[in-house]
Amino acid sequence: MSFLILTFVYLISGAVPVGLAQDYTSPRGPLSEINSIQQLIQLADDNRDLTTLEKVLHALPEPLRSSPVFIYRSESLQSASPEFPRVLLSDPSGNLVLAFNGESKQTGFDKLEALEFDEKKNRFNFYEMKFSSAGKLEVSKPNPSECLSCHRFSDPRPNWESYDQWPGVYGSNDDRLRSEEVEPFKNFLNLFELNPRYSALRIEPLKQVLGYSSHYGRLPNEPNISFTHRLSRNNFKRLARLIMESPDYEKFKYMIGGFLSSGEGERFSDIGYLPEKISGLTDYYSKENIQEVEAIAISYANSVSNPATLTFRSLFESRGIDTSDWFMNFKGALTNSFVNGTPWEDQLLEALLEKDSELRSFLYEGSNTQLQEAKLKEVSHDKLVRSSFDLHLRKFDSDLEVPQRIWRDACRQCHERGAARGVPQFDFNSAMNKPKLKELIESGAMPMNQRLTPSQKKRFVLSLSKLKD
Ligand code: HEC
Ligand code: HEC
Repeated sequence: MSFLILTFVYLISGAVPVGLAQDYTSPRGPLSEINSIQQLIQLADDNRDLTTLEKVLHALPEPLRSSPVFIYRSESLQSASPEFPRVLLSDPSGNLVLAFNGESKQTGFDKLEALEFDEKKNRFNFYEMKFSSAGKLEVSKPNPSECLSCHRFSDPRPNWESYDQWPGVYGSNDDRLRSEEVEPFKNFLNLFELNPRYSALRIEPLKQVLGYSSHYGRLPNEPNISFTHRLSRNNFKRLARLIMESPDYEKFKYMIGGFLSSGEGERFSDIGYLPEKISGLTDYYSKENIQEVEAIAISYANSVSNPATLTFRSLFESRGIDTSDWFMNFKGALTNSFVNGTPWEDQLLEALLEKDSELRSFLYEGSNTQLQEAKLKEVSHDKLVRSSFDLHLRKFDSDLEVPQRIWRDACRQCHERGAARGVPQFDFNSAMNKPKLKELIESGAMPMNQRLTPSQKKRFVLSLSKLKD
């Protein structure tokens, strides 16, 4: 039976590889583009013959079908392998992302996962979809709880690592295949057309790889870099909202704007935005904390070091505002970074200026991201120095909330996600009482390659011994 369906779909896709999407239109408008869940539901509603996930994939508009990212090792609810990778598709705005895998024995095979970015609210929403046995597309309510342990509870966001390393993704090294990825990727491409799902995808440019005897350049069209841009563009909009919602934004926004505009992150405290009274704002992470993070980034072969990210986070963390959910990194921990291949300061500032017209009035004429710094400093000083208010600045090395935050960033996605997949389930308090915890952390051999910095380990172990007292 399943063989018949397979052959059938293969025939369709083989016979009309191009232009199939045009066969599916909606009375409510052309579907040359789909960038929302609503449009996807409409596609299935208006074309009753679309009764399986395979058929829907073949009916998607060109832009979605020609943007695949292939994941051969995944920590998600859909398993993946080198022969049957999990696929992520995205539309050019990054507002719709779809995920599925390729072999009926894999977990999550019957599901189509999706995220949608809500441009009005600047929020990501997650959906789980599948076809009923009667061939009807069933869509979950937004943000079912089983998605949120990994995509973060209160304000969900994608899980995606920063430019330029994406472990487990074909082209994991800056869109270059690692040597151990070359043969499996070629094998996968060779069998591509035989799979009823993969054959829906447009991968002509990628097929060039088959002709290479060795492959050192980036993959055609740089799929991982492009996907990273699509996701992070929207995450910066979400982040601009989070920053505007943060406490005392009206007082601190001139300084925040100054930071992003100056491009002087690493030496921000020296350039006049932080008079002595509040210079501690950039010192939440010590030089040592920052060096440790850089060492981890380098050990991942990530050439991009980003102390400016930690200096920027300091502006918030030192006031008790947790920034860990601002990032898309799944692995969590301090190594989170905004780095997405372009200057993140400019992109974040643009997103902020789009929403804050007062801050926008500081722009130099004709510029998108250059603020008039002298004017900005003046106002910032008025707000932060001349007005009186209490600041109790924190530091990472003594902040009492740090262990819980490490748990939230770097542990909870596996240990508190509800659906056990061989991972023991427990919460922060039980973890603190596990005899094995201290040993795991001190040895540095955390399961599944979790990396903590030496300072993070110290903080964890310190609160353990406090608990025992
Ligand atoms: C166990 C952790 C986990 C859970 C639970 C989880 N995801 Fe994910 N998700 C991931 C990881 C990790 C990625 C990154 C890509 C990959 O490795 O497959 C991801 C990626 C995605 C993506 C691609 C965009 C992105 O974030 O990179 C979508 C869409 C997605 N998940 C939807 C969902 C939906 C819908 C649910 C709930 C039904 C869900 N996820 C539950 C771990 C999880
Ligand atoms: C990617 C998934 C993953 C993440 C993230 C993760 N763990 Fe684990 N953890 C596991 C798995 C799998 C095991 C069980 C395997 C084993 O015992 O070797 C485990 C075991 C443990 C145990 C031993 C449990 C027992 O009953 O003895 C402790 C304690 C623990 N983890 C703490 C943590 C802490 C603290 C963090 C965050 C710094 C963390 N884990 C992050 C997957 C994870």
